[in-house]
Amino acid sequence: MKYDFDTPVDRRGTDSFKWDTGQDYFGRDDVIPMWVADMDFACAPCIVEAVKRRAEHPVYGYAVRQQPYFDAVMGWLKKRHGFAVDQEYLAFAPPGVIYAMNVMLRILTISGDRVLVPMPNYDPLFDMVTRNGRKLVESPLIWQDGRYTFDFKDLVAKAAAGAKALILSSPHNPTGRVWTREELDRVAQICLRHGVFMLIDEIHCDFVPKSHPHTTFGLLGEEVLRRSMICYSANKGFNLGGLGMATIVLADDDLRCRFNEEMAVAQTRLDNIFGMTALMAAYTRGEDWLDQAIAYVEDNKRCLARFLAQRIPAIRLIPSEGTYLVWLDCTALPYRGMALEHFMLNEAKVAFCAGYEFGEQGDAFLRMNVACPRSTLTQALVQMEAAVQKLPL
Ligand SMILES: Cc1ncc(COP(=O)(O)O)c(C=O)c1O
Repeated sequence: MKYDFDTPVDRRGTDSFKWDTGQDYFGRDDVIPMWVADMDFACAPCIVEAVKRRAEHPVYGYAVRQQPYFDAVMGWLKKRHGFAVDQEYLAFAPPGVIYAMNVMLRILTISGDRVLVPMPNYDPLFDMVTRNGRKLVESPLIWQDGRYTFDFKDLVAKAAAGAKALILSSPHNPTGRVWTREELDRVAQICLRHGVFMLIDEIHCDFVPKSHPHTTFGLLGEEVLRRSMICYSANKGFNLGGLGMATIVLADDDLRCRFNEEMAVAQTRLDNIFGMTALMAAYTRGEDWLDQAIAYVEDNKRCLARFLAQRIPAIRLIPSEGTYLVWLDCTALPYRGMALEHFMLNEAKVAFCAGYEFGEQGDAFLRMNVACPRSTLTQALVQMEAAVQKLPL
């Protein structure tokens, strides 16, 4: 490998949400954090160099996006996802994807409106429904032929019952499913038929292996494009979570104007200069780093699968098709919900995202982030094994 993903980078003492919050969040500093969705790898050298070069200019005033920025975004969407987006359709949300989704949800719906969300799901994506006083209508995913998929009958019934919007993460957080084009087409057609606007979070779309190609909603046809908002970001693929930014595709002129107006009112239009610099470097020169990071994480997933099967069979790995997240089925352990989370924290000293945070369907599950050096992953697994061995299973 050209890049080093094996050597641990010490992130403690860098104001890291993942590594510097053990005491505050879990009451102990000695846990291996496998929770927050960022990577423990150094960024691509081309990004680090570009940011350093920009930092050397000593004025960090307001910045403005110019044509090279738009070209980088459009070039990436075309090259990586085959989506030749019209520049006119682009909008931007420096605070990030969740901010953009929340703004759009409030534009599209009023208090009490029904919003359809396949579950389990990344919690901010359904929290925003209830916290804005909208009615959350859950559509539980089903387990079919060895993987999660949509319950299409349920989606039809709930879309027909007056849902105003659908919120989808694609690829899926937390299960790691990379939805097929056929699945996405069926969801989109149901929404079109019943007048449901689609809010599509594709933040994880860059981090998928070639064996499971991602289909962006942008490829599902002009009619689908006009009835959806698609959110992209360099954050997950290139590990830029601390730099904000999101690219939004909104083909409907009226909705795009209203979205931009909301951003203008709150003065949230201008990007972070380091974010802009990093995005341009990532999208124009970062692809080989990304491909190697994906390959390394795929090896981590294989290593995890082997370890669990041989040494902790009570924990079942749900095959993760993309993203660096894996969904662990702990049904065979005697704990659920918070008790499961606390068992792992206090006995294994490993911090996960507890499954219940993603909805009640996740009660017996843990979400693990495997974007870390193999030595960190192995250490976490050894600690989990020792903790599980003490249980009367
Ligand atoms: C599915 C999904 N959407 C959005 C986010 C957060 O995005 P942002 O920081 O751009 O709001 C995350 C972060 O983990 C995520 O997993």
